[in-house]
Amino acid sequence: APVAAVIPAAGRGVRLGPGAPKALRALNGTPMLIHAVHALAASRHVSLVVVVAPADGPAEVKSLLDAHALSGSAPSGSWGSTDFQVVPGGETRQESVALGLAAVPPEYGVVLVHDAARPLVPVDTVDAVIEAVRDGAPAVVPALPLADTVKEVEPATEPGAPEPVVATPERARLRAVQTPQGFDRATLVRAHETVTEDVTDDASMVEQLGLPVVTVPGHEEAFKVTRPLDLVLAEAVLARRRL
Ligand code: CTP
Ligand code: MG
Repeated sequence: APVAAVIPAAGRGVRLGPGAPKALRALNGTPMLIHAVHALAASRHVSLVVVVAPADGPAEVKSLLDAHALSGSAPSGSWGSTDFQVVPGGETRQESVALGLAAVPPEYGVVLVHDAARPLVPVDTVDAVIEAVRDGAPAVVPALPLADTVKEVEPATEPGAPEPVVATPERARLRAVQTPQGFDRATLVRAHETVTEDVTDDASMVEQLGLPVVTVPGHEEAFKVTRPLDLVLAEAVLARRRL
């Protein structure tokens, strides 16, 4: 089945601090979103990329994508063998993903959802996710073991106040999950139609349907650019790749 990637890029990036919407912030001179689109289009399996732009920014994002097209001769709306499309996003990530998914034609049997804020994901991670979906898993997430021990707390009402610890889950059984998360298209569509409560990743909606979600190995370079230090790390990774 052909593979489409939905790239939610409509967030403001509050934790990164003031400035342009996060996906449009530059990493070594190129907008984060462009790095993310390149990372997905690098897979020979991905033939459509749907970018979910800030609600007021689809035209700007469209011209950015055209300006960074891989081949100078590619027609508008495509990078080499990968077509792209831009749709406006919503208030939450979940809404933005649903809007992107609605723009994926039904012949795309496999849909990846990838954060624009993970611009450096290696193509091998993308391909591992696709392969696991093609092998029959309805939902696949790249996952890594944790370095830190994780505590569950009773969240404080004022920032900075001490918080009582409630529990310590066994670290060896925990995984930090990344994107792209990969899905059988019909499963992801049903998950978005069925689950109404707020979630922080797409696979958890499939879990709520009672369907199996499996992991494949994630990659350190697929980290999410969230806070200012992450920009430093991302630029260092790009500099190292050029060596
Ligand atoms: N996203 C989106 N639509 C939203 C909110 C988030 O498309 N309404 C996207 C972001 O652009 C990002 C991805 O979802 O690529 C992951 O979200 P996150 O890292 O939280 O980005 P932001 O929401 O932009 O950052 P913050 O939470 O710090 O404001
Ligand atoms: Mg957010």
